[in-house]
Amino acid sequence: MTYAGNPDNLKDIEENKNYEFVKGDVCDKNVVKSAMKGCDMVLNFAAETHVDRSIGTPEDFINTDVFGTYVLLEAARNFKIKKFIQISTDEVYGSIETGSFEETDVLNPSSPYAASKAAADLLVNSYFVTYGVPTLITRSSNNFGYYQYPEKLIPLFITNIIKSKKVPLYGDGLNIRDWIYVLDNCDAIDFILHNGILGEIYNIGAGNEKTNIKITKTILTELGKDESSIEYVKDRVGHDRRYALNCQKLNKLGWKPKFKFEEALKETIDWYKENKGWWEKIKSGDYLEYYKKHYKERHGMKG
Ligand code: TYD
Repeated sequence: MTYAGNPDNLKDIEENKNYEFVKGDVCDKNVVKSAMKGCDMVLNFAAETHVDRSIGTPEDFINTDVFGTYVLLEAARNFKIKKFIQISTDEVYGSIETGSFEETDVLNPSSPYAASKAAADLLVNSYFVTYGVPTLITRSSNNFGYYQYPEKLIPLFITNIIKSKKVPLYGDGLNIRDWIYVLDNCDAIDFILHNGILGEIYNIGAGNEKTNIKITKTILTELGKDESSIEYVKDRVGHDRRYALNCQKLNKLGWKPKFKFEEALKETIDWYKENKGWWEKIKSGDYLEYYKKHYKERHGMKG
């Protein structure tokens, strides 16, 4: 429930009998202890994830991504949890000019965000080796799809265009990301949860390498706009040029992506067109107030 958390995202599972919502901070040992009691598996999706924010305020990333993971691991160790799945990212490997990263490659994170996730991965592995906590790590490529907070490239650009605003493209627009539709990512995580070998790391990708300019042009065309809507802006500091994952390990285990990139992107654009109510209040700036309040609460500040 940070600025990017939103109870509206959970509406469609609210009635599920095996669902319970507990509001709490992953860094709060007592909340985590009471929430994890009686559980058999833990999936840690909790993270600060936006690179640009990590450049401005790294502390939240260290707290949630590193210390939060430690708190969860300690609780999992004490409760003898049967499986602990850490949701990580391809960003831990850093940038690669040619070829692709395998799970055994050296971690070389560029941003405070990527470094916080790399640190968490190492911690998870140490709990497997030292305490025998049954862990699995997934490293996914860039996700896109519905309910994605409009600060990431795809939802930011779609919602800006719908609002007749320009889209801020960093640098020359030729940075490459490897995209996966969110439903494929979730399907792969579920597959690894049931079939993964404990202590192992699995890359999750769908083989969709695209330059940012290519994605931008596709969004513009779909929404009936031309390139005059692009505003080339100053590049991100330490901007990774290219991410690429080798996913043979997961493919050999038996998982393959089901969605085609172009169709999934169209579906995503349609979803944002049809669900303005969901994102308009976020984009209006209300979230900034929420973020400030949350930040003050966490850091014990008043006023
Ligand atoms: P982003 O969605 O922030 O994901 P990540 O940095 O984790 O890969 O950015 C994806 C790419 O799009 C990245 O190369 C940065 C670029 N980008 C822009 O050009 N403009 C923007 O406003 C944003 C948010 C990202």
